Amino acid sequence: MSADREFILREMGLGPRWKLRVALAESAAKATPMEVRTAPEACASPGAEPVATVAGAGSMNWDELRSAVAACRQCRLCEGRKQAVLGVGDVNADWLFVGEGPGAEEDQRGEPFVGQAGKLLDNMLAAIGLKRGVDVYIANAVKCRPPENRTPTPEETAACLPYLERQIELIQPKLIVALGRPAAQTLLQAEVKIGAARGRLHDYRGIPLIVTYHPAYLLRTLLDKAKAWEDLCFMRRTMTGKKGG
Ligand code: URA
Ligand code: SF4
Repeated sequence: MSADREFILREMGLGPRWKLRVALAESAAKATPMEVRTAPEACASPGAEPVATVAGAGSMNWDELRSAVAACRQCRLCEGRKQAVLGVGDVNADWLFVGEGPGAEEDQRGEPFVGQAGKLLDNMLAAIGLKRGVDVYIANAVKCRPPENRTPTPEETAACLPYLERQIELIQPKLIVALGRPAAQTLLQAEVKIGAARGRLHDYRGIPLIVTYHPAYLLRTLLDKAKAWEDLCFMRRTMTGKKGG
């Protein structure tokens, strides 16, 4: 293992922050308002069968989306949630990160990626000069916490997809990063293996999409952190290219 590689692994495994040793484009830190979900409504009707579409999501504004998701019972994930978690960040962001679904802490707090995996995601963002809420929006493939943190089923991700699609339409990001397999498969509507899909540009309705490992997986798997590092550099290069500088 090269000294460089060892350094990278140490940085990613132990360092408080990842540091990218290339010049980082200054983030256009527009002070746009944070979009955070509102107070929850209880899931009133357990046992509903998943259905494939959410009527009308395609024309909703942010307030309507927030209310619809808070009250949504389109799949059985509504049964176990404390609250639905729409997303967080800059609604005009160039960067959109999409995870899998809320965990226990996210379900408690109503914000994506606030637990252990979220700390790693924040470090990953910092490594490429980004900060939660500043030119970055963070969402999940499903808005309600799967019981026991299991992977959401294809039916559940399909039921929830209209919300994510609408978020993307409203945000119009320049780059989408799919964190882990469920997010990648949901957005690309295809079977995805992260090892094969990472390192190249995919397309979501004309928006470049990059696939990388989920931070929760990286917390368990030291070796793939080096690959995640490469993916971060690839993301930064791609965005720099998109912005023309
Ligand atoms: N893992 C995810 O995929 N999303 C979260 O919001 C938290 C953990
Ligand atoms: Fe609705 Fe999505 Fe929650 Fe299922 S996960 S109940 S589709 S908001």
